[in-house]
Amino acid sequence: MCGIVGYVGDQQALDVVVAGLARLEYRGYDSAGVAVVADGEIVMEKRAGKLINLRDALAGLPQPPATVGIGHTRWATHGAPTDRNAHPHGDCKGQIAVIHNGIIENFAALRAELEERGHELRSDTDTEVVAHLLEEETAGVTLGEAMRNVCRRLEGAFTLLAVHTADPGLVVGARRNSPLVVGRGVGENFLGSDVSAFIAHTREAIELGQDQVVELRRDSITITDFDGRPAKTRDYHVDWDASAAEKDGYEYFMLKEIAEQPRAVADTLLGRVGADGRLVLDEMRLSDQDLRDCDKIVIVACGTAFHSGLIAKYAIEHWTRIPCEVELASEFRYRDPILTRDTLVIAISQSGETMDTLMAVRYAREQRAKVLAICNVNGSTIPRESDGVLYTHAGPEVAVASTKAFLTQLVACYLVALYLGQVRGVLFGDEIEDVIEQLETMPSKIQEVLTTIGPVRDLARSLAAERCVLFLGRHVGFPVAMEGALKLKELAYMHAEGFAAGELKHGPIALVEPGLPVVVVVPGHGRKVIHDKIVSNIQEIRARGAKTIVIAEEGDDSVTAYADTLIRIPAVPTLLQPLVSTVPLQVFACELASAKGHDVDQPRNLAKSVTVE
Ligand code: M6R
Repeated sequence: MCGIVGYVGDQQALDVVVAGLARLEYRGYDSAGVAVVADGEIVMEKRAGKLINLRDALAGLPQPPATVGIGHTRWATHGAPTDRNAHPHGDCKGQIAVIHNGIIENFAALRAELEERGHELRSDTDTEVVAHLLEEETAGVTLGEAMRNVCRRLEGAFTLLAVHTADPGLVVGARRNSPLVVGRGVGENFLGSDVSAFIAHTREAIELGQDQVVELRRDSITITDFDGRPAKTRDYHVDWDASAAEKDGYEYFMLKEIAEQPRAVADTLLGRVGADGRLVLDEMRLSDQDLRDCDKIVIVACGTAFHSGLIAKYAIEHWTRIPCEVELASEFRYRDPILTRDTLVIAISQSGETMDTLMAVRYAREQRAKVLAICNVNGSTIPRESDGVLYTHAGPEVAVASTKAFLTQLVACYLVALYLGQVRGVLFGDEIEDVIEQLETMPSKIQEVLTTIGPVRDLARSLAAERCVLFLGRHVGFPVAMEGALKLKELAYMHAEGFAAGELKHGPIALVEPGLPVVVVVPGHGRKVIHDKIVSNIQEIRARGAKTIVIAEEGDDSVTAYADTLIRIPAVPTLLQPLVSTVPLQVFACELASAKGHDVDQPRNLAKSVTVE
């Protein structure tokens, strides 16, 4: 939440910073602001609303001659999304500008102290205290030193960037529990909440650790801990370029990312099967012995990633016979869960920065459980703090609504489950090969769904005036139903719920009234018992007047008579069906939101990366 950019170099700082903000806007779009150091002065401009408002304001002003700057795009926590609360925030003397991502939990006490000492605070934010604390601390020491002193007094989560007129060639950054990466250029250097902030300029990055301060000049990068000791960091090369984070002719990033799913799934499978047909997941960094010793798996995740975990449970328990629990990361550590050294905790997160998931990871490690991250963003905090990681290779996901990350998370979960089966000897080699062969056909099956998606778009447009849509599924179709409902809520702002079809008669069926659209995900014939049961469920809701939208496999004629609209997907093994059945639901939500005139990529009140609890 909140996007942060910093720049020091030879280029016009304002241009670099605003272009960086454009790439980070998906992290928050309540307001945007910039500060540059020009001719010994801080020049600051900020506006409530999307970045375009700031751009319009800047367009009317002369370009300040500045080669050092910081910029911020906000997801509001403390203080309404107004011009006044937009970042950057300044000190009393107008010499310092500060931007922040996170929440400073002890800001009220700090603010009271500052006001008592005569500081005049002008916003309702927690952030502004940092500017005034820096004002006090910089009397006599460098901005870097002052930042370290201030950070030691702060509680909560923060990424901070600051500039000071006294040292105009310097940007200082700090991080605790919120993301910040360094981009290493030639004669210029960058800071960003993630690499997309500077990917147009450099693909060489440095991962910052917890509680570190970075002093960035055009030809030097100094990184220390909060006590000023040189810090350990990791350099890495970003394996995608700026074009991967462009819309590429699509109306929305979401549509582009949906279309990229066949490739993302293929890339996530790539290189993970050895010449002998055995899975090779060395990068996981967990020993085979640890995996053999594991007697319970707990999956923690949020939102869409949580849904991928719910599906993974079916595969893990079916293929490995290890008990598997799936838990919302935000609930996990507060209920005193039972974890031992032999528990494997799998943390699933696209961004690798979700605070709830990160806190669950830390809690699990404190209990001495082993933690495996399934993550899409290289070098992010969750994999860094886990015992091992399996990266998905979805490429950058910019739309707030997660699509290709979800499908690749599923693939990674299937791989982990199969690998556990291989290491523990509970699956025969040919069984694993069979599933891998099936998985390798999935990119073309997903493509098939995409190629025949037209009727789903028409259907979505025809339902734009509806107020509520229900989604039903059984087995792995149940989490798919939940995912379909989540997409519709976050994009179309409609009431939508995903239910286990078997639960219908225990309450939710009371919601069904004539004309209510109900989407039903039908499992393949391979699971005849659940298949036939859901066909009965369709008849039950139809008898009560529901408008049935049925997603069923090619060749399944048993549902034709009960479907007001029939959406066909390719026949695949039941456990893998979510890889194809989710796709029409993504397109459905995207199209419906667009028909209602919503901003598909930046839905209201949301941000891509949820870095506060
Ligand atoms: O980055 P993460 O995978 O940890 O994010 C988790 C959720 O915030 C995320 O999946 C969210 O639910 C999506 N916006 C849903 O489309």
